[in-house]
Amino acid sequence: MSSAPLTPADLRCAYRVNPLGVAPGQVRLSWQLHGPGRNRAQSGYQVQVAVDEAGQAMDPGPDWDRAVWDSGRVRSSDSAGIGYAGQDLRRGGRYAWRVRAWDERESVSQWSDPAWFEVELDPAAGWRASWIGQGWQRALNGPPAEDGPFDPVARALQPAPYLRREFTVDRPVAAARLYVTALGLYEMRLNGARAGDAVLAPGWTDYRQRIAYQTYDVTGLLRPGSNVLGAILADGWYSGFIGFDAKRAGGLYGTEPELLAQLLVRFAGGGETWVLTDSEWRVSSGAIRHADLLMGERHEQALEPEGWDRPDFDARGWSTVVRRDRDSVPLVADPGPPVRVTQELPARSVQRDAAGRFIADFGQNLTGWLRLQVPGPGTACVRIRHAEVLDGDGALYTDNLRTARQTDEFVTGGGPAVAEPRFTLHGFRYAEISGYPGELPADAVTARVVHSDIAPAGAFESSAGWLNQLFANIDWGQRGNFISVPTDCPQRDERLGWLGDAQIFARTACYNRDVAAFFAKWLDDVADAQHPSGAFPDIAPRLNLDWAGAPAWGDAGVIVPWTIWKMYGDPAVLDRMYPAMTAWMEFIERGNPGYLRARELGNCYNDWLAPGDDGTAPELLASAYWAYDAALMAEIAEVTGREAEAAGYRALWSKIATAFADGFVGGDGRIACDTQTAYVLALHMNLVPDELREAAAGWLRAAVDRADGRLTTGFVGVGYLLPVLSSTGGLADAYRLLGAEGLPSWRYMVDQGATTVWERWDGWTADRGFQSAWMNSFNHYALGAVGEWLYRFVLGLEQAPESAGFGRLVVRPHPGGELTWARGSYQSVRGPVCSGWSVSGERFTLRVELPPNVTASVRVPSADPGAVRDAAGGGPSSVAGFPGRAGAQEAVFEVGSGTHEFTGPVLAGQEGQDG
Ligand code: BGC
Repeated sequence: MSSAPLTPADLRCAYRVNPLGVAPGQVRLSWQLHGPGRNRAQSGYQVQVAVDEAGQAMDPGPDWDRAVWDSGRVRSSDSAGIGYAGQDLRRGGRYAWRVRAWDERESVSQWSDPAWFEVELDPAAGWRASWIGQGWQRALNGPPAEDGPFDPVARALQPAPYLRREFTVDRPVAAARLYVTALGLYEMRLNGARAGDAVLAPGWTDYRQRIAYQTYDVTGLLRPGSNVLGAILADGWYSGFIGFDAKRAGGLYGTEPELLAQLLVRFAGGGETWVLTDSEWRVSSGAIRHADLLMGERHEQALEPEGWDRPDFDARGWSTVVRRDRDSVPLVADPGPPVRVTQELPARSVQRDAAGRFIADFGQNLTGWLRLQVPGPGTACVRIRHAEVLDGDGALYTDNLRTARQTDEFVTGGGPAVAEPRFTLHGFRYAEISGYPGELPADAVTARVVHSDIAPAGAFESSAGWLNQLFANIDWGQRGNFISVPTDCPQRDERLGWLGDAQIFARTACYNRDVAAFFAKWLDDVADAQHPSGAFPDIAPRLNLDWAGAPAWGDAGVIVPWTIWKMYGDPAVLDRMYPAMTAWMEFIERGNPGYLRARELGNCYNDWLAPGDDGTAPELLASAYWAYDAALMAEIAEVTGREAEAAGYRALWSKIATAFADGFVGGDGRIACDTQTAYVLALHMNLVPDELREAAAGWLRAAVDRADGRLTTGFVGVGYLLPVLSSTGGLADAYRLLGAEGLPSWRYMVDQGATTVWERWDGWTADRGFQSAWMNSFNHYALGAVGEWLYRFVLGLEQAPESAGFGRLVVRPHPGGELTWARGSYQSVRGPVCSGWSVSGERFTLRVELPPNVTASVRVPSADPGAVRDAAGGGPSSVAGFPGRAGAQEAVFEVGSGTHEFTGPVLAGQEGQDG
């Protein structure tokens, strides 16, 4: 077959498209290859990086002949995680890069279109600006005031500072960059327009250890003559309410927000100038009377100083700012994706309640806020409350918010207005709007969906409508909770980066969306939060809690980096986390010389929220995770070139595995505790001696039977339950659990109308109503960890054990249960991989699509594997045992890129309807 050369495209640096701030050590490049035909592969590549000082005199563009790095032709199929290896990169410098690739026949492609990156400023020396703020004394939580009832919230909430500075541009501008961060949240304005489209920036880090900043290209916002750079600040995670119990973070990080910004203006004729945050700035307040992530936001339009962020505004009444020298906390270019408004949802319905309030239903539980058109004339006081669910009377159910208020208020200024908050976040499907003048038309209100801007990567569809809804719910749960850090829930007074939830959901998260940069950022937070003992924290950022070391929570510090490497193929994340990971391993070993992890379990949440039965012994669960860590560490050490350490971790694994087998595995393959989770962990983590695996798998199936085909796993067991069943002969049981109705089951939530995944299986029941208001989120992603099973097993989009970054797949679909077809895809770093299958009568058909530079062993389960044929009529290269069912077989085909179709007799018992 004739084939044009491959074309490299979709260039990424540090997992991002043309990032404006990347640390020199994190310039890691990747590309995808496009090209027709089959079995296409990259045999080599060449990367060039050249200085490209955008808009400098004459703008010559990158001079490729004077590249700062030319890799030369590298014989390799790698197309991700290519580390920069050229001359030192200049801090703040702009570079262009391009790549060309040699294909399987050694023909070379054209050079790709260039991509760019800009290097972050020196974390200390690159900054000349000072922190500025308002310098008001703000009330923290304190004793009740003597003169009336104490409302710590009202006392703490303060108007948002507005800051401005004028400057002059007296020459034509070639390029301008705004480097900015805040302690708190900022919205930057330049000549009346918003700079950048990030919201809730700079996001959440432990501000005592690391502060992220953003870089915006603001060239188009400057104008000749007078210009104004402005900012609105809010408390956010820095000095607002965060975590449990309505506590302001103020006592932890700081008490009032501050701004740090530098605007670099480069002139067309050469030369540059900086506008910095300094004592020249002026401060006042405006319409935003308070803004808080948990509590909500209040605007009084009449108080807005119109035109404050443009020139020719009279700022004589504004105060001078309080200036503070920078301290030694490093300022790093934000490695994660910004939080943005990613979608708008119209109201599905707006109804009036008996009290005259409007209840808007957006048909989807989401995280964000409302945008509301309020007509004039006259002043309206509109109040918006938000909730995930309604109570039996059709009113908002807000008991589960605990002390979070999620309430916004807008006092309009007399004319028509658009009411929209900026510095808060609500978890809701419903909103109650009171004080609205007249009738509220449904098209006057929309929900703005807000989260870290993680691009969709996965798709899944099947013949079961309810399962498609579950899939959507899992993705919405991720969207609602990936807000700068992976949080447990977006509505109540918690919203914390729990490690246990993150590790169990990490693989699902990667399949659903491109989370490489998101997790790279959060892993820095995890390392920052590590306890001096080496124990990984329970939550990151850690607040002022020294909770650390909980099994299945702390283990996230090893599992998440490993998962990111496996999914995206760049071992740099492993190198970066290596010291933290080894400190964790030493911490556990120090406390547990007998190789069972029975001590130093911290807060041990065990198999959190296991329905009915939490009978899994903590030391079993903890030891299984420790063994798993050791196995992953052996792999991690090996892939990062640490041979001796890899051997050490293999030896450690053997010791834990032996102790585990001695302590917990019976001669008949029974595992102590006899819970589903105990079997799942022992089998998934490979802790059952080979000769007993089959027996143990049988006991797991018996445990499922004993529970009448229901799951009894909590957050920890839930992730591997269906994968383990499906790979140890229990595929039918996996489908039985998947399809189970009633409590507890995934389907139960869907049947109750859920549009996200609930924290608890029984968040609401007909007999009892709501679960305890104290802990009952309707948007918690942990139980959605079943998502990875849909991709890896139902679709069969699984990597070969030795593969990282989807170079080599084992496409092994697992048809079963009520499904007659399923199809879906995953946008891997090498391009989209797709699988779709259907059963028609006695025929099973599978279609697989792979991008260039990806190969797969395709496994087609069949009652007669020898009779399975590819589209050209070719038979399988071999026949193997199908792990999903004892005695069943699969036909094996080896394929490369292109579209491939296979058809053959269906597995016995899987016959579907004709047509
Ligand atoms: C959170 C969980 C978390 C757990 C730890 C809860 O309050 O919502 O998701 O993992 O605490 O026990």
